[in-house]
Amino acid sequence: MSAQRILIVDGDQASLKYLAYSIGKAGFEAYTASAGKEGLIVAWRERPHFIVIDPVNFNDISIVELYHKLRNDPRTAKQPIIVFTSAVDPQAAQQATQLGFDHFVVKDSEALPTLLDIFQGKAVSAGAAAPTFQERTNTRMGKTIVFLSAKGGMGTSSLCANLGTMFAELFTQKKVAVVDLVLPLGSIAPIVGYKGPLNICEACSMPPEDVTVDYLHDSLPDTGLWKFQLLAGCADPHTAEELNVAQIPGLIQKMKQAFDYVLIDLGRSLSRISMPVILDADQLVLTIGPDQSTVTLTKTVVEYLRIRGLQNMQIYPLLNRAVGLEGMITSKIEEILGLSVTAAIPHIGSEFVLANNLNQPLSYKLPDNVATIAFRQAAQEIERRAQEVREKGFKHI
Ligand SMILES: Nc1ncnc2c1ncn2[C@@H]1O[C@H](COP(=O)(O)OP(=O)(O)OP(=O)(O)O)[C@@H](O)[C@H]1O
Ligand SMILES: [Mg+2]
Repeated sequence: MSAQRILIVDGDQASLKYLAYSIGKAGFEAYTASAGKEGLIVAWRERPHFIVIDPVNFNDISIVELYHKLRNDPRTAKQPIIVFTSAVDPQAAQQATQLGFDHFVVKDSEALPTLLDIFQGKAVSAGAAAPTFQERTNTRMGKTIVFLSAKGGMGTSSLCANLGTMFAELFTQKKVAVVDLVLPLGSIAPIVGYKGPLNICEACSMPPEDVTVDYLHDSLPDTGLWKFQLLAGCADPHTAEELNVAQIPGLIQKMKQAFDYVLIDLGRSLSRISMPVILDADQLVLTIGPDQSTVTLTKTVVEYLRIRGLQNMQIYPLLNRAVGLEGMITSKIEEILGLSVTAAIPHIGSEFVLANNLNQPLSYKLPDNVATIAFRQAAQEIERRAQEVREKGFKHI
């Protein structure tokens, strides 16, 4: 049986190439067009089984006109047309279905599995009982809190692990998981003392249907004193090279279904792998140090994230004086970044390293330390902001 043909029409080259590559890997034959009229030509020539269109990224023809031209030509009258966009407006889905599009898929971390379900006939069309965009964003999904830094050595992994413990201690009824996505070598496992074989490389090499929500619940190791379950990072660079990155979005999606809080260490990575995770985060914790070069680099990162549609409410700058410097004053950092900095973890010298070396969370080793208190406040604030992001619908860029 020959592969199903999928046409993707998107003016955003990165998005176009990534989707074509991913669906090609999944066994479909991808055709691409970077503008509406080119899309029409390819559609009529190739007669794809499905047509995926991002209406935002081209303007040579309106989406309404493109839709009618496709529908009024016998070669493309019946093929399902999928709107695939990063539109923030929740009403966009409703408008798209009213126009007659078959599906509306948001460019977020669950986009690829959703599209594959549609191509494989597993998804119901938008006109029928399929969950709407609004319903989908309201379904009970764990909150993702993503940790990123513009520079290495800022304490991102230590902060991610310790905040994971804080979340578990503050919200005792909730299930907390930490995911280490730092490539090629994860560092959360050594921090918490996990030496087992289950890690991100392993999880991504399994058939996706085997990595169920129940599997994640049951198989991800408990970390003892740390009180969260861990999806460890790659344990050696060689395995990291083999990492099946196409599985990551689906895996994160299942993590969100399995846990109430999913904290993800991304290290310094702004890549094709990490960007969808960042754009889908309820909170992006940006670890910064109080030195000029870190703040300048962080400013560049923040500007880029704003262009990609992240709102200030989604970004939480966390000042960590990991390097033992008083350095720049907070107000100066705030001015440069255009963000308020409400939390700072003090430099606690060798105590931090010692706790890490003993594989102990700070709240256990030093329960009354100022750093522990700062972690607690930060965790509370991050949860409050994540909740606000959910309620106000900032998410889904
Ligand atoms: N507030 C702090 N006070 C003292 N030491 C700290 C503090 N924060 C982090 N450290 C120490 O700094 C070192 C680097 O921390 P960590 O590995 O968490 O940073 P990172 O940003 O994840 O680094 P990488 O870029 O390698 O991923 C560790 O030894 C850690 O114990
Ligand atoms: Mg790290």
